[in-house]
Amino acid sequence: MASTDITATGEWAALGRHARELQAGGVHLRDLFSADPGRVERLAVTAGDLVVDLSRHLVTAETVELLLALADRAGVAERIAATLAGDPVNATEGRPALHTALRAGPGASLVVGGVDVMAAVRAELDRMAGFARAVRSGERRGATGRPIRTVVNLGIGGSYLGLAMAHEALAAFRGPGIECRFVSNVDPADLATVLDDGLDPAETLFVLVSKSFGTPETLANARAARAWLTAALGPDAAGHQFAAVTADRAAAIEFGVDAGNVFAMWDWVGGRYSMGSAAGLSLMIAIGEDRFGEMLAGMRSVDEHLVRQPLAGNAPALMGLLGVWYRNFWGLQSRAVVPYSHRLRLFGSWLQQVVMESNGKRVRLDGSPVGCDTSEVVWGGTGTDSQHSFHQFLHQGTTVVPADFIVFARPDVDVAGSPDAGERHEALVANGFAQAAALAFGTSVGGADPHRQLPGNRPSTVVMASELTPSVLGQLVALYEHQTVVQGAVWGINSFDQYGVEQGKTLAAAIAEGLQADPSRPASEHDPSTTALLAHYQRLRRA
Ligand code: F6P
Repeated sequence: MASTDITATGEWAALGRHARELQAGGVHLRDLFSADPGRVERLAVTAGDLVVDLSRHLVTAETVELLLALADRAGVAERIAATLAGDPVNATEGRPALHTALRAGPGASLVVGGVDVMAAVRAELDRMAGFARAVRSGERRGATGRPIRTVVNLGIGGSYLGLAMAHEALAAFRGPGIECRFVSNVDPADLATVLDDGLDPAETLFVLVSKSFGTPETLANARAARAWLTAALGPDAAGHQFAAVTADRAAAIEFGVDAGNVFAMWDWVGGRYSMGSAAGLSLMIAIGEDRFGEMLAGMRSVDEHLVRQPLAGNAPALMGLLGVWYRNFWGLQSRAVVPYSHRLRLFGSWLQQVVMESNGKRVRLDGSPVGCDTSEVVWGGTGTDSQHSFHQFLHQGTTVVPADFIVFARPDVDVAGSPDAGERHEALVANGFAQAAALAFGTSVGGADPHRQLPGNRPSTVVMASELTPSVLGQLVALYEHQTVVQGAVWGINSFDQYGVEQGKTLAAAIAEGLQADPSRPASEHDPSTTALLAHYQRLRRA
Protein backbone atom coordinates (compact mmCIF):
# COMPACT_ATOMS: atom_id res chain seq x y z
CA MET A 1 0.00 0.00 0.00
CA ALA A 2 1.49 3.34 -1.05
CA SER A 3 1.34 5.96 1.69
CA THR A 4 1.32 9.71 1.21
CA ASP A 5 4.77 11.26 1.35
CA ILE A 6 3.67 14.10 3.56
CA THR A 7 6.92 15.97 2.93
CA ALA A 8 6.02 16.27 -0.78
CA THR A 9 2.68 17.96 -0.15
CA GLY A 10 1.70 21.60 -0.48
CA GLU A 11 0.66 21.60 3.19
CA TRP A 12 4.19 20.64 4.23
CA ALA A 13 5.68 23.30 1.97
CA ALA A 14 3.29 25.93 3.36
CA LEU A 15 4.35 25.11 6.91
CA GLY A 16 7.99 25.36 5.86
CA ARG A 17 7.44 28.85 4.40
CA HIS A 18 5.49 29.92 7.47
CA ALA A 19 8.19 28.66 9.84
CA ARG A 20 10.90 30.49 7.91
CA GLU A 21 8.87 33.72 8.06
CA LEU A 22 8.39 33.41 11.82
CA GLN A 23 12.06 32.59 12.34
CA ALA A 24 13.27 35.40 10.07
CA GLY A 25 10.94 37.85 11.83
CA GLY A 26 12.43 36.87 15.17
CA VAL A 27 9.12 35.74 16.64
CA HIS A 28 9.13 35.91 20.45
CA LEU A 29 6.56 34.53 22.86
CA ARG A 30 6.56 37.89 24.65
CA ASP A 31 5.24 39.56 21.49
CA LEU A 32 2.79 36.77 20.70
CA PHE A 33 1.23 37.18 24.15
CA SER A 34 1.12 40.98 24.10
CA ALA A 35 -0.40 41.05 20.60
CA ASP A 36 -3.16 38.58 21.45
CA PRO A 37 -4.97 38.82 24.79
CA GLY A 38 -7.19 35.83 23.91
CA ARG A 39 -4.19 33.55 23.37
CA VAL A 40 -4.32 31.62 26.64
CA GLU A 41 -8.03 30.99 26.37
CA ARG A 42 -7.72 29.83 22.77
CA LEU A 43 -4.76 27.55 23.32
CA ALA A 44 -5.73 25.96 26.64
CA VAL A 45 -7.58 22.77 25.78
CA THR A 46 -9.55 20.60 28.18
CA ALA A 47 -9.53 16.83 27.82
CA GLY A 48 -11.46 15.05 30.55
CA ASP A 49 -10.08 16.41 33.83
CA LEU A 50 -6.87 17.61 32.21
CA VAL A 51 -6.23 21.19 31.25
CA VAL A 52 -3.54 21.25 28.60
CA ASP A 53 -2.12 24.75 28.24
CA LEU A 54 -0.47 25.09 24.85
CA SER A 55 -0.27 28.89 24.90
CA ARG A 56 3.49 28.96 25.46
CA HIS A 57 4.24 27.40 22.10
CA LEU A 58 5.86 29.12 19.17
CA VAL A 59 2.67 29.23 17.17
CA THR A 60 0.27 31.80 15.81
CA ALA A 61 -3.33 31.24 14.79
CA GLU A 62 -2.01 30.71 11.25
CA THR A 63 0.43 28.02 12.46
CA VAL A 64 -2.41 26.08 14.04
CA GLU A 65 -4.47 26.33 10.86
CA LEU A 66 -1.56 25.09 8.76
CA LEU A 67 -0.89 22.21 11.17
CA LEU A 68 -4.54 21.22 11.04
CA ALA A 69 -4.41 21.30 7.23
CA LEU A 70 -1.35 19.03 7.42
CA ALA A 71 -3.22 16.61 9.68
CA ASP A 72 -6.07 16.63 7.21
CA ARG A 73 -3.77 15.90 4.31
CA ALA A 74 -2.05 13.10 6.24
CA GLY A 75 -5.43 11.54 7.02
CA VAL A 76 -4.93 11.68 10.79
CA ALA A 77 -8.65 11.50 11.61
CA GLU A 78 -9.10 8.55 9.25
CA ARG A 79 -6.12 6.76 10.80
CA ILE A 80 -7.55 7.29 14.29
CA ALA A 81 -10.90 5.91 13.13
CA ALA A 82 -9.20 2.91 11.48
CA THR A 83 -7.19 2.21 14.63
CA LEU A 84 -10.26 2.26 16.86
CA ALA A 85 -12.26 0.14 14.41
CA GLY A 86 -9.67 -2.64 14.57
CA ASP A 87 -8.25 -2.28 11.06
CA PRO A 88 -4.80 -3.86 10.71
CA VAL A 89 -3.01 -0.51 11.17
CA ASN A 90 0.09 -2.36 12.37
CA ALA A 91 0.55 -3.32 8.74
CA THR A 92 4.05 -4.78 8.98
CA GLU A 93 2.79 -7.35 11.49
CA GLY A 94 -0.69 -7.56 9.93
CA ARG A 95 -2.46 -6.70 13.19
CA PRO A 96 -4.81 -4.13 14.65
CA ALA A 97 -3.63 -1.93 17.52
CA LEU A 98 -6.58 -2.11 19.83
CA HIS A 99 -5.39 -0.79 23.19
CA THR A 100 -8.51 1.42 23.24
CA ALA A 101 -10.66 -1.74 23.34
CA LEU A 102 -9.04 -2.66 26.67
CA ARG A 103 -10.75 0.30 28.28
CA ALA A 104 -13.82 0.70 26.09
CA GLY A 105 -16.15 -0.01 28.99
CA PRO A 106 -19.01 -2.37 29.75
CA GLY A 107 -21.42 -1.28 27.00
CA ALA A 108 -18.95 -1.30 24.11
CA SER A 109 -18.99 -3.79 21.28
CA LEU A 110 -16.34 -4.52 18.69
CA VAL A 111 -16.06 -7.49 16.39
CA VAL A 112 -12.79 -7.82 14.47
CA GLY A 113 -12.24 -10.63 11.98
CA GLY A 114 -15.32 -12.42 13.35
CA VAL A 115 -14.01 -12.28 16.93
CA ASP A 116 -15.95 -10.44 19.64
CA VAL A 117 -13.03 -8.50 21.02
CA MET A 118 -14.98 -6.87 23.83
CA ALA A 119 -16.30 -10.19 25.15
CA ALA A 120 -12.69 -11.44 25.38
CA VAL A 121 -11.55 -8.21 27.08
CA ARG A 122 -14.37 -8.33 29.65
CA ALA A 123 -13.85 -12.02 30.40
CA GLU A 124 -10.15 -11.50 31.05
CA LEU A 125 -10.76 -8.41 33.19
CA ASP A 126 -13.21 -10.45 35.28
CA ARG A 127 -10.69 -13.27 35.72
CA MET A 128 -8.00 -10.76 36.72
CA ALA A 129 -10.33 -9.10 39.19
CA GLY A 130 -11.20 -12.46 40.75
CA PHE A 131 -7.53 -13.37 41.07
CA ALA A 132 -6.55 -9.96 42.47
CA ARG A 133 -9.43 -10.04 44.96
CA ALA A 134 -8.45 -13.48 46.18
CA VAL A 135 -4.81 -12.49 46.66
CA ARG A 136 -5.72 -9.25 48.43
CA SER A 137 -8.23 -10.90 50.74
CA GLY A 138 -5.89 -13.76 51.63
CA GLU A 139 -8.32 -16.28 50.22
CA ARG A 140 -5.66 -17.22 47.72
CA ARG A 141 -2.52 -18.18 49.62
CA GLY A 142 0.93 -19.56 48.92
CA ALA A 143 1.62 -23.28 48.57
CA THR A 144 2.13 -23.69 52.33
CA GLY A 145 -1.04 -21.82 53.25
CA ARG A 146 0.59 -18.52 54.15
CA PRO A 147 -0.93 -15.28 52.78
CA ILE A 148 0.82 -13.48 49.94
CA ARG A 149 2.76 -10.47 51.20
CA THR A 150 4.88 -9.67 48.14
CA VAL A 151 4.07 -9.71 44.46
CA VAL A 152 7.11 -9.65 42.16
CA ASN A 153 6.37 -8.57 38.59
CA LEU A 154 8.81 -10.13 36.13
CA GLY A 155 8.70 -8.33 32.78
CA ILE A 156 10.53 -5.73 30.73
CA GLY A 157 9.69 -2.85 28.38
CA GLY A 158 5.94 -2.60 27.94
CA SER A 159 5.51 -5.48 30.39
CA TYR A 160 7.11 -3.38 33.11
CA LEU A 161 7.49 0.37 32.59
CA GLY A 162 3.84 1.43 32.64
CA LEU A 163 3.02 -0.84 35.55
CA ALA A 164 5.92 0.31 37.68
CA MET A 165 5.13 3.93 36.80
CA ALA A 166 1.46 3.53 37.75
CA HIS A 167 2.29 1.56 40.90
CA GLU A 168 4.50 4.43 42.04
CA ALA A 169 2.05 7.11 40.89
CA LEU A 170 -0.84 5.55 42.77
CA ALA A 171 1.01 4.87 46.02
CA ALA A 172 -1.74 6.65 47.93
CA PHE A 173 -4.30 4.17 46.59
CA ARG A 174 -2.48 0.94 47.35
CA GLY A 175 -3.95 -1.48 49.83
CA PRO A 176 -2.09 -2.48 52.97
CA GLY A 177 -0.43 -5.82 53.57
CA ILE A 178 0.89 -6.57 50.07
CA GLU A 179 3.95 -5.01 48.53
CA CYS A 180 4.66 -5.07 44.78
CA ARG A 181 8.18 -5.21 43.41
CA PHE A 182 9.31 -5.02 39.79
CA VAL A 183 12.21 -6.92 38.27
CA SER A 184 13.10 -6.31 34.64
CA ASN A 185 16.85 -6.37 34.03
CA VAL A 186 18.77 -9.49 32.98
CA ASP A 187 21.50 -8.19 35.31
CA PRO A 188 21.17 -10.64 38.24
CA ALA A 189 21.57 -7.71 40.61
CA ASP A 190 17.99 -6.67 39.87
CA LEU A 191 16.33 -9.92 40.99
CA ALA A 192 18.90 -10.53 43.74
CA THR A 193 18.24 -7.10 45.25
CA VAL A 194 14.55 -7.88 45.50
CA LEU A 195 14.86 -11.47 46.71
CA ASP A 196 17.53 -10.56 49.26
CA ASP A 197 15.32 -7.87 50.70
CA GLY A 198 13.84 -10.23 53.27
CA LEU A 199 11.33 -11.87 50.92
CA ASP A 200 9.80 -15.04 52.27
CA PRO A 201 9.30 -17.64 49.51
CA ALA A 202 6.16 -18.91 51.23
CA GLU A 203 4.57 -15.44 50.96
CA THR A 204 5.75 -14.41 47.49
CA LEU A 205 3.79 -14.49 44.25
CA PHE A 206 5.59 -14.00 40.93
CA VAL A 207 3.68 -12.47 38.03
CA LEU A 208 5.50 -13.24 34.79
CA VAL A 209 4.43 -10.76 32.12
CA SER A 210 5.61 -11.43 28.60
CA LYS A 211 3.36 -11.10 25.61
CA SER A 212 5.74 -13.18 23.49
CA PHE A 213 6.93 -15.48 26.28
CA GLY A 214 10.22 -15.26 24.42
CA THR A 215 11.97 -12.26 25.94
CA PRO A 216 15.32 -13.54 27.25
CA GLU A 217 15.57 -11.10 30.19
CA THR A 218 12.14 -12.02 31.52
CA LEU A 219 12.63 -15.74 31.04
CA ALA A 220 16.04 -15.66 32.76
CA ASN A 221 14.50 -13.88 35.75
CA ALA A 222 11.55 -16.27 35.75
CA ARG A 223 13.82 -19.34 35.76
CA ALA A 224 15.89 -17.90 38.62
CA ALA A 225 12.76 -16.99 40.59
CA ARG A 226 11.33 -20.47 40.05
CA ALA A 227 14.57 -22.02 41.31
CA TRP A 228 14.51 -19.77 44.40
CA LEU A 229 10.91 -20.73 45.11
CA THR A 230 11.24 -24.45 44.56
CA ALA A 231 14.50 -24.67 46.54
CA ALA A 232 12.57 -23.42 49.56
CA LEU A 233 9.14 -24.96 49.01
CA GLY A 234 9.55 -27.92 46.68
CA PRO A 235 8.72 -28.37 43.00
CA ASP A 236 4.95 -27.97 43.28
CA ALA A 237 5.12 -24.43 44.62
CA ALA A 238 6.01 -22.84 41.28
CA GLY A 239 2.74 -23.66 39.57
CA HIS A 240 0.77 -22.15 42.40
CA GLN A 241 2.93 -19.15 43.19
CA PHE A 242 3.44 -18.05 39.62
CA ALA A 243 0.89 -16.28 37.47
CA ALA A 244 1.62 -15.50 33.83
CA VAL A 245 0.26 -12.91 31.43
CA THR A 246 1.04 -13.82 27.85
CA ALA A 247 -0.23 -14.42 24.34
CA ASP A 248 1.49 -17.83 24.43
CA ARG A 249 -0.61 -19.73 26.94
CA ALA A 250 0.91 -23.10 26.07
CA ALA A 251 4.45 -21.85 26.75
CA ALA A 252 3.42 -20.50 30.16
CA ILE A 253 1.86 -23.83 31.11
CA GLU A 254 4.92 -25.67 29.86
CA PHE A 255 7.05 -23.37 32.04
CA GLY A 256 5.08 -24.69 34.99
CA VAL A 257 2.40 -22.10 35.68
CA ASP A 258 -0.98 -23.58 36.67
CA ALA A 259 -3.40 -23.16 33.75
CA GLY A 260 -5.84 -21.24 35.96
CA ASN A 261 -3.16 -18.63 36.66
CA VAL A 262 -2.46 -17.83 33.01
CA PHE A 263 -4.02 -14.61 31.72
CA ALA A 264 -4.33 -13.58 28.11
CA MET A 265 -2.63 -10.82 26.20
CA TRP A 266 -3.58 -10.57 22.59
CA ASP A 267 -1.38 -9.93 19.60
CA TRP A 268 -3.57 -6.91 18.81
CA VAL A 269 -2.25 -5.01 21.83
CA GLY A 270 1.27 -3.61 21.57
CA GLY A 271 3.42 -4.16 24.66
CA ARG A 272 4.00 -0.45 25.24
CA TYR A 273 0.25 0.21 24.96
CA SER A 274 -0.75 -2.70 27.21
CA MET A 275 -1.18 -1.08 30.62
CA GLY A 276 -4.94 -1.61 30.56
CA SER A 277 -4.65 -5.32 29.76
CA ALA A 278 -4.00 -8.29 32.03
CA ALA A 279 -0.39 -7.05 31.97
CA GLY A 280 -1.65 -4.78 34.74
CA LEU A 281 -2.32 -7.74 37.07
CA SER A 282 0.33 -6.75 39.65
CA LEU A 283 -0.99 -3.20 39.61
CA MET A 284 -4.53 -4.45 40.10
CA ILE A 285 -3.41 -6.54 43.07
CA ALA A 286 -1.78 -3.43 44.53
CA ILE A 287 -4.62 -0.93 44.02
CA GLY A 288 -7.65 -3.22 43.72
CA GLU A 289 -10.07 -3.79 40.88
CA ASP A 290 -12.14 -0.65 41.55
CA ARG A 291 -9.17 1.70 41.30
CA PHE A 292 -7.91 -0.20 38.27
CA GLY A 293 -11.37 0.28 36.74
CA GLU A 294 -11.15 4.01 37.49
CA MET A 295 -7.83 4.14 35.67
CA LEU A 296 -9.41 2.44 32.64
CA ALA A 297 -12.34 4.88 32.79
CA GLY A 298 -9.85 7.76 32.81
CA MET A 299 -8.17 6.37 29.70
CA ARG A 300 -11.58 5.97 28.09
CA SER A 301 -12.50 9.62 28.70
CA VAL A 302 -9.47 10.75 26.72
CA ASP A 303 -10.16 8.12 24.03
CA GLU A 304 -13.61 9.68 23.69
CA HIS A 305 -12.12 13.16 23.57
CA LEU A 306 -9.77 11.99 20.79
CA VAL A 307 -12.66 10.66 18.74
CA ARG A 308 -15.25 13.37 19.37
CA GLN A 309 -13.31 16.60 19.50
CA PRO A 310 -12.56 18.24 16.19
CA LEU A 311 -8.78 18.35 15.79
CA ALA A 312 -8.71 22.12 16.46
CA GLY A 313 -9.67 21.49 20.09
CA ASN A 314 -8.25 18.02 20.43
CA ALA A 315 -5.50 17.88 23.06
CA PRO A 316 -3.58 14.78 21.94
CA ALA A 317 -3.89 15.74 18.27
CA LEU A 318 -2.60 19.27 18.89
CA MET A 319 0.25 17.94 21.02
CA GLY A 320 1.19 15.50 18.25
CA LEU A 321 1.07 18.25 15.64
CA LEU A 322 3.27 20.47 17.79
CA GLY A 323 5.73 17.58 17.97
CA VAL A 324 5.87 17.58 14.16
CA TRP A 325 6.16 21.39 14.10
CA TYR A 326 9.23 21.44 16.31
CA ARG A 327 10.89 18.31 14.97
CA ASN A 328 10.52 19.10 11.28
CA PHE A 329 10.16 22.86 11.00
CA TRP A 330 12.37 24.07 13.85
CA GLY A 331 14.84 21.19 13.77
CA LEU A 332 14.44 20.51 17.50
CA GLN A 333 15.61 17.07 18.52
CA SER A 334 14.25 16.42 21.94
CA ARG A 335 11.46 17.03 24.41
CA ALA A 336 11.76 17.10 28.17
CA VAL A 337 8.94 15.82 30.35
CA VAL A 338 9.01 17.09 33.89
CA PRO A 339 6.17 16.18 36.23
CA TYR A 340 6.10 18.34 39.34
CA SER A 341 5.10 15.24 41.25
CA HIS A 342 7.44 12.87 43.03
CA ARG A 343 4.86 10.14 42.48
CA LEU A 344 5.30 10.50 38.71
CA ARG A 345 9.03 10.02 38.83
CA LEU A 346 8.88 7.04 36.47
CA PHE A 347 6.61 8.80 33.97
CA GLY A 348 9.51 9.85 31.73
CA SER A 349 10.85 6.27 31.48
CA TRP A 350 7.42 5.02 30.50
CA LEU A 351 6.99 7.80 27.96
CA GLN A 352 10.42 7.16 26.44
CA GLN A 353 9.34 3.70 25.36
CA VAL A 354 5.93 4.85 24.14
CA VAL A 355 7.35 7.65 21.99
CA MET A 356 10.75 6.38 20.93
CA GLU A 357 9.87 2.73 20.31
CA SER A 358 6.73 3.83 18.45
CA ASN A 359 8.13 6.61 16.31
CA GLY A 360 11.84 5.85 16.06
CA LYS A 361 11.32 4.76 12.45
CA ARG A 362 12.97 5.63 9.16
CA VAL A 363 10.57 4.23 6.58
CA ARG A 364 6.91 4.85 5.92
CA LEU A 365 4.22 2.20 5.95
CA ASP A 366 5.00 1.26 2.35
CA GLY A 367 8.71 0.82 3.13
CA SER A 368 9.88 4.00 1.41
CA PRO A 369 12.18 6.41 3.30
CA VAL A 370 10.34 8.98 5.41
CA GLY A 371 12.21 11.96 3.98
CA CYS A 372 12.12 13.87 7.27
CA ASP A 373 13.12 13.46 10.88
CA THR A 374 10.84 11.34 13.04
CA SER A 375 10.77 10.69 16.79
CA GLU A 376 12.20 13.25 19.11
CA VAL A 377 14.36 12.12 22.02
CA VAL A 378 12.26 12.07 25.18
CA TRP A 379 14.02 12.68 28.44
CA GLY A 380 13.37 14.43 31.70
CA GLY A 381 13.12 14.12 35.43
CA THR A 382 10.98 15.29 38.29
CA GLY A 383 10.53 18.85 39.43
CA THR A 384 11.96 20.29 41.59
CA ASP A 385 14.97 17.90 41.47
CA SER A 386 15.44 18.49 37.75
CA GLN A 387 15.83 22.24 38.36
CA HIS A 388 19.06 21.41 40.14
CA SER A 389 20.35 19.14 37.41
CA PHE A 390 19.39 20.03 33.82
CA HIS A 391 17.21 23.16 33.87
CA GLN A 392 20.30 25.35 33.41
CA PHE A 393 20.58 23.71 29.98
CA LEU A 394 16.89 24.38 29.28
CA HIS A 395 17.14 28.05 30.22
CA GLN A 396 20.49 29.13 28.84
CA GLY A 397 21.85 26.30 26.71
CA THR A 398 22.22 26.73 22.96
CA THR A 399 19.74 23.93 22.25
CA VAL A 400 16.05 24.64 22.53
CA VAL A 401 14.09 21.83 24.18
CA PRO A 402 10.29 22.05 24.43
CA ALA A 403 9.27 20.92 27.91
CA ASP A 404 6.09 19.39 29.30
CA PHE A 405 5.33 20.27 32.90
CA ILE A 406 2.70 18.21 34.71
CA VAL A 407 1.22 19.85 37.78
CA PHE A 408 -1.50 18.93 40.30
CA ALA A 409 -3.56 21.36 42.33
CA ARG A 410 -3.72 19.08 45.37
CA PRO A 411 -1.04 16.92 46.98
CA ASP A 412 -1.85 13.30 47.81
CA VAL A 413 0.30 13.36 50.91
CA ASP A 414 1.95 15.78 53.31
CA VAL A 415 4.56 15.43 56.01
CA ALA A 416 2.49 15.33 59.18
CA GLY A 417 3.67 17.68 61.84
CA SER A 418 6.18 19.53 59.68
CA PRO A 419 6.23 23.30 60.32
CA ASP A 420 5.33 24.08 56.72
CA ALA A 421 2.66 21.38 56.29
CA GLY A 422 0.21 22.55 53.62
CA GLU A 423 2.73 24.94 52.11
CA ARG A 424 5.17 22.56 50.54
CA HIS A 425 2.81 21.66 47.74
CA GLU A 426 2.47 25.37 46.94
CA ALA A 427 6.25 25.58 46.74
CA LEU A 428 6.28 22.66 44.33
CA VAL A 429 3.63 24.16 42.06
CA ALA A 430 5.16 27.64 42.19
CA ASN A 431 8.44 26.19 40.99
CA GLY A 432 6.74 24.47 38.06
CA PHE A 433 4.93 27.63 36.98
CA ALA A 434 8.11 29.65 37.39
CA GLN A 435 10.02 27.35 35.06
CA ALA A 436 7.37 27.59 32.35
CA ALA A 437 7.29 31.38 32.70
CA ALA A 438 11.06 31.81 32.67
CA LEU A 439 11.40 29.56 29.63
CA ALA A 440 8.75 31.49 27.73
CA PHE A 441 9.46 35.06 28.70
CA GLY A 442 13.05 35.03 29.93
CA THR A 443 14.32 37.33 32.62
CA SER A 444 16.44 40.40 32.61
CA VAL A 445 17.45 40.09 36.26
CA GLY A 446 21.05 41.23 36.47
CA GLY A 447 20.67 44.08 34.00
CA ALA A 448 22.79 43.89 30.90
CA ASP A 449 25.07 41.11 32.18
CA PRO A 450 24.74 38.46 29.45
CA HIS A 451 25.68 35.68 31.88
CA ARG A 452 22.58 36.36 33.88
CA GLN A 453 20.06 36.75 31.13
CA LEU A 454 17.54 34.10 30.19
CA PRO A 455 16.53 34.63 26.57
CA GLY A 456 13.07 33.10 26.91
CA ASN A 457 11.11 32.16 23.79
CA ARG A 458 11.46 28.51 24.78
CA PRO A 459 8.25 26.55 24.39
CA SER A 460 6.49 24.45 27.01
CA THR A 461 3.20 22.73 27.71
CA VAL A 462 1.61 22.77 31.15
CA VAL A 463 -0.74 19.87 31.86
CA MET A 464 -2.76 20.39 35.00
CA ALA A 465 -5.30 18.36 36.95
CA SER A 466 -6.79 18.62 40.39
CA GLU A 467 -4.95 15.61 41.82
CA LEU A 468 -3.21 12.41 40.86
CA THR A 469 -6.00 9.85 41.05
CA PRO A 470 -6.26 6.56 39.14
CA SER A 471 -8.60 8.25 36.68
CA VAL A 472 -6.27 11.20 36.12
CA LEU A 473 -3.31 8.86 35.65
CA GLY A 474 -5.32 6.94 33.04
CA GLN A 475 -6.09 10.22 31.29
CA LEU A 476 -2.42 11.19 31.22
CA VAL A 477 -1.47 7.80 29.80
CA ALA A 478 -4.08 8.00 27.03
CA LEU A 479 -3.16 11.63 26.26
CA TYR A 480 0.47 10.74 25.61
CA GLU A 481 -0.32 7.47 23.82
CA HIS A 482 -2.61 9.26 21.37
CA GLN A 483 -0.25 12.15 20.90
CA THR A 484 2.41 9.64 19.86
CA VAL A 485 0.13 7.86 17.42
CA VAL A 486 -1.03 11.15 15.87
CA GLN A 487 2.56 12.19 15.32
CA GLY A 488 3.34 8.83 13.68
CA ALA A 489 0.23 9.17 11.51
CA VAL A 490 1.46 12.51 10.11
CA TRP A 491 4.79 10.92 9.21
CA GLY A 492 2.99 7.91 7.70
CA ILE A 493 5.04 5.44 9.75
CA ASN A 494 4.00 2.34 11.68
CA SER A 495 3.94 3.36 15.35
CA PHE A 496 3.17 -0.20 16.45
CA ASP A 497 6.12 -2.36 15.41
CA GLN A 498 9.70 -2.46 16.80
CA TYR A 499 11.92 -4.42 14.45
CA GLY A 500 15.01 -2.51 15.59
CA VAL A 501 14.70 -3.86 19.13
CA GLU A 502 14.07 -7.35 17.88
CA GLN A 503 17.22 -7.30 15.72
CA GLY A 504 19.18 -6.23 18.80
CA LYS A 505 17.83 -9.25 20.70
CA THR A 506 19.01 -11.64 17.96
CA LEU A 507 22.48 -10.11 17.91
CA ALA A 508 22.78 -10.33 21.69
CA ALA A 509 21.94 -14.03 21.57
CA ALA A 510 24.70 -14.65 19.00
CA ILE A 511 27.21 -12.70 21.07
CA ALA A 512 26.19 -14.49 24.27
CA GLU A 513 27.16 -17.72 22.55
CA GLY A 514 30.51 -16.13 21.70
CA LEU A 515 31.10 -15.18 25.34
CA GLN A 516 30.73 -18.75 26.45
CA ALA A 517 32.63 -20.22 23.53
CA ASP A 518 36.09 -21.62 23.39
CA PRO A 519 38.39 -18.63 22.72
CA SER A 520 40.11 -20.65 20.00
CA ARG A 521 36.97 -20.67 17.83
CA PRO A 522 37.28 -18.84 14.51
CA ALA A 523 37.12 -15.10 14.99
CA SER A 524 35.35 -14.44 11.73
CA GLU A 525 31.90 -15.12 13.20
CA HIS A 526 31.72 -11.61 14.65
CA ASP A 527 32.77 -8.24 13.35
CA PRO A 528 36.41 -7.41 14.22
CA SER A 529 35.57 -4.97 16.99
CA THR A 530 33.16 -7.39 18.70
CA THR A 531 35.74 -10.16 18.35
CA ALA A 532 38.31 -7.95 20.10
CA LEU A 533 35.83 -7.17 22.89
CA LEU A 534 35.09 -10.88 23.34
CA ALA A 535 38.78 -11.68 23.58
CA HIS A 536 39.38 -8.94 26.11
CA TYR A 537 36.36 -10.08 28.13
CA GLN A 538 37.62 -13.65 28.18
CA ARG A 539 41.08 -12.48 29.32
CA LEU A 540 39.48 -10.54 32.18
CA ARG A 541 37.35 -13.53 33.15
CA ARG A 542 40.38 -15.81 33.21
CA ALA A 543 42.51 -13.38 35.19
O1 F6P B 1 11.52 -3.82 23.93
C1 F6P B 1 11.11 -4.67 22.91
C2 F6P B 1 9.87 -5.35 23.28
O2 F6P B 1 9.53 -6.16 22.23
C3 F6P B 1 8.77 -4.35 23.65
O3 F6P B 1 8.03 -3.92 22.59
C4 F6P B 1 8.00 -5.11 24.66
O4 F6P B 1 7.24 -4.25 25.44
C5 F6P B 1 9.11 -5.80 25.43
O5 F6P B 1 10.06 -6.15 24.45
C6 F6P B 1 8.70 -7.00 26.20
O6 F6P B 1 8.15 -7.97 25.37
P1 F6P B 1 7.35 -9.20 25.95
O7 F6P B 1 6.14 -8.68 26.67
O8 F6P B 1 7.00 -10.03 24.76
O9 F6P B 1 8.26 -9.93 26.90
